[in-house]
Amino acid sequence: MTIDTVRVDLGARAYDVRIGPGLLSRAGQEIAPLLKRRRVAVLTDETVAGRHLEGLRQGLGDIEMTALALPAGESTKGWPQFSRAVDWLLAEKVERRDIVIALGGGVIGDLAGFAAAVLRRGVRFVQIPTTLLSQVDSSVGGKTGINSVHGKNLIGAFHQPSLVLADIDVLNTLPARDFLAGYGEVVKYGLLGDAAFFDWLETNAPAMAAGDAGARQYAVRRSVEMKARIVERDETEEGDRALLNLGHTFCHALESATGYTGRLLHGEGVAIGCALAFELSQRLGLCSQEAPSRVCAHLKAMGMKCDLSDIPGDLPGADGLLALMAQDKKVVDGKLRFILARGVGDAFVASDVDTDTVRGLLEDALSRR
Ligand code: GLY
Repeated sequence: MTIDTVRVDLGARAYDVRIGPGLLSRAGQEIAPLLKRRRVAVLTDETVAGRHLEGLRQGLGDIEMTALALPAGESTKGWPQFSRAVDWLLAEKVERRDIVIALGGGVIGDLAGFAAAVLRRGVRFVQIPTTLLSQVDSSVGGKTGINSVHGKNLIGAFHQPSLVLADIDVLNTLPARDFLAGYGEVVKYGLLGDAAFFDWLETNAPAMAAGDAGARQYAVRRSVEMKARIVERDETEEGDRALLNLGHTFCHALESATGYTGRLLHGEGVAIGCALAFELSQRLGLCSQEAPSRVCAHLKAMGMKCDLSDIPGDLPGADGLLALMAQDKKVVDGKLRFILARGVGDAFVASDVDTDTVRGLLEDALSRR
């Protein structure tokens, strides 16, 4: 299989996303053109280090590699592990012209990218995303950061990577639940802007989940292409980039309500959030009755969560969930901002959605539990 290249065309900050099998084992060739000296510093987590760090070391060939493995999990994405990572990079004498590598999922990519953004006022970094979610979303587009006690991703910077290596082979070591959670973000791309891609997913996603490498490569490429085009239009989320948050207003409230635990993974919350966003769009008279049913039918066919009833344990009431939505950093001037849809593949940003309609939707969804 060949390797695909998606260019993220941001002028002086342009970079390639390379997608395909075997990229870890050829990391040295891929990264060498960026290096001023043959040395890289890798930030990773303990789980990913166990699976892939030796493969990366071999792939780097004669490029010297030093690595720090942080604890795996969302709680790493805060000040203590961030300052540990930055101090380690300084102790390793990483210089302005050096490259930091983020080897891991979204937590490591966001933390390492933010460390690179502030280290010596900014060093370059390469993303090597090891989850489906980070390959199709968080490794591309330059959002970096950590969580605060006040909420997720509230501390950070836009800092574009210099290269992204999305190795399809590493998806083989992902637990099935993590793969499907990442698939929530893939579905999001079809739903927000490409009906033909959603059609394709309805036919091909079962094979993709079962391990079909060609289908995986195509789905990652198409997702990254869509993200790249949106980021090129709106790098710092003044407008269109908000489309990428389809399902996320609901998702963030549900993640907060479930304490960012294994009860609900981020991508699972995105899938449920997309289904709710389509149901909301239908209630607002924007799309047909068939659209939300089709979204939910596909998620169910994939064995994914698609409704509040699929979340184990207690949830707050409709007003409690609304209050959590109001804390979302996407709130502008106190107004809830949703991504709504006129149909599959046709989403838009709505900045002033009627709160009573949202409350009614949540009450009905909670009564289905
Ligand atoms: N994950 C949404 C974005 O990158 O804008």
